[in-house]
Amino acid sequence: MKAVVYQGPREVTVKDVPDPSIQSPNDAIVRITTTNICGSDLHMYEGRTSVEQGKILGHENMGIVEAVGDAVDRIKVGDRVSVPFNIACGTCRNCLTGWTSFCLRTNPTEGMDGAAYGYANMGPYDGGQAEFLRVPYADVNLLELPPGTEHENDFTMLSDIFPTGWHGTELAGLQPGDRVAVFGAGPVGLMAAHSAMIRGASQVFVVDKETDRLDLAGKIGATPVDFSAGDPVEQILDATGGRGADCGVEAVGYQAHDPSGQEHPELVLDNLVKVVRSTGGIGVVGVYLPQDPGAATEQAKQGRVAFDYGTFFSKGQHMGTGQCPVMRYNRHLRDLIIAGRAQPSFLVSHELPLTDAADGYQHFDNRDAGWTKVLLRPAA
Ligand SMILES: NC(=O)c1ccc[n+]([C@@H]2O[C@H](COP(=O)([O-])OP(=O)(O)OC[C@H]3O[C@@H](n4cnc5c(N)ncnc54)[C@H](O)[C@@H]3O)[C@@H](O)[C@H]2O)c1
Ligand SMILES: [Zn+2]
Ligand SMILES: [Zn+2]
Repeated sequence: MKAVVYQGPREVTVKDVPDPSIQSPNDAIVRITTTNICGSDLHMYEGRTSVEQGKILGHENMGIVEAVGDAVDRIKVGDRVSVPFNIACGTCRNCLTGWTSFCLRTNPTEGMDGAAYGYANMGPYDGGQAEFLRVPYADVNLLELPPGTEHENDFTMLSDIFPTGWHGTELAGLQPGDRVAVFGAGPVGLMAAHSAMIRGASQVFVVDKETDRLDLAGKIGATPVDFSAGDPVEQILDATGGRGADCGVEAVGYQAHDPSGQEHPELVLDNLVKVVRSTGGIGVVGVYLPQDPGAATEQAKQGRVAFDYGTFFSKGQHMGTGQCPVMRYNRHLRDLIIAGRAQPSFLVSHELPLTDAADGYQHFDNRDAGWTKVLLRPAA
């Protein structure tokens, strides 16, 4: 089959690799219909992770079940499914309490709980930017979708970024009527803004400097804030009579930068601490790493991010972090899509054949104007 393979910094190629096969009776093989490029893939693409050369990338996958192992009985061949990016066993202590993103069984990497497809440090699993994908514990992990092809571009957001954006608002403790500050208007930030609107926020600020992304935030009814036009905290305080936001979402991660492009991993955390009111919540879904050899400072290379903890404490704020447990939300979000109450496909800008993946990675990584979310179609 054809698959997108990591070759080295800023180099991915589409290669012929062996088809996946059933390795355990709990496995399924999914024929991929749509697989997305994620901002998380860009950390690997830019050489800012320890991902090994030859890894098949891709953790935002959906498709049709092609084969199942003998122990799979809920999921059937021919089912249309969304594949959560987390690989969960379903029976460990963390899975049983709803934290499938920290499964204790599926990631053999020392010191890491939680596994994913095609990702650095998340276990030996191939990704789904390919024609086929092996899914372990298929009955636990796969989400059934209505048959056919309807809502394909909406449902493809269920494997990661729609639940992740929703999770950001959940970690922030969003209540109806809240004013929310979302930092980052990438796919995850836009999904957090979409989620906040659905959950009844009274006003949603979305901070970025990329105008195409800010325009999309405006189109869904959020208030765009351009951080290259002035301090985003001042802009939000000005717009709220000095009150700031009730809660905030971090959807940028450790490669946060200033308008000139220079990285400051603490910048967005500091801004959130400033702009969120005392006792408010901050949901951090942007990724931070325990080691970042490519960072600018010695501290940051060790994953130590010196944000304004003193003010955070003084304001009695709280913070939630980490990978999203997709299964906690994906059923409800699927049903919101079917009911017409959610339409996460609004951010899709490009639908490319798998063979154009290298091009897609390059443009999305450059944040080229108009490249807001790239979908790959292995069958095209
Ligand atoms: N926790 C999870 O489960 C999970 C899941 C998916 C993605 N992620 C992470 O979420 C983050 C965002 O993902 P994405 O796909 O939207 O990526 P992206 O890189 O496309 O978007 C990030 C955006 O942040 C903006 N940005 C940079 N510095 C900023 C600053 N100082 N203030 C405001 N905005 C700034 C960039 O211009 C960009 O538009 C990444 O770190 C990704 O790895 C986490
Ligand atoms: Zn992703
Ligand atoms: Zn588990």
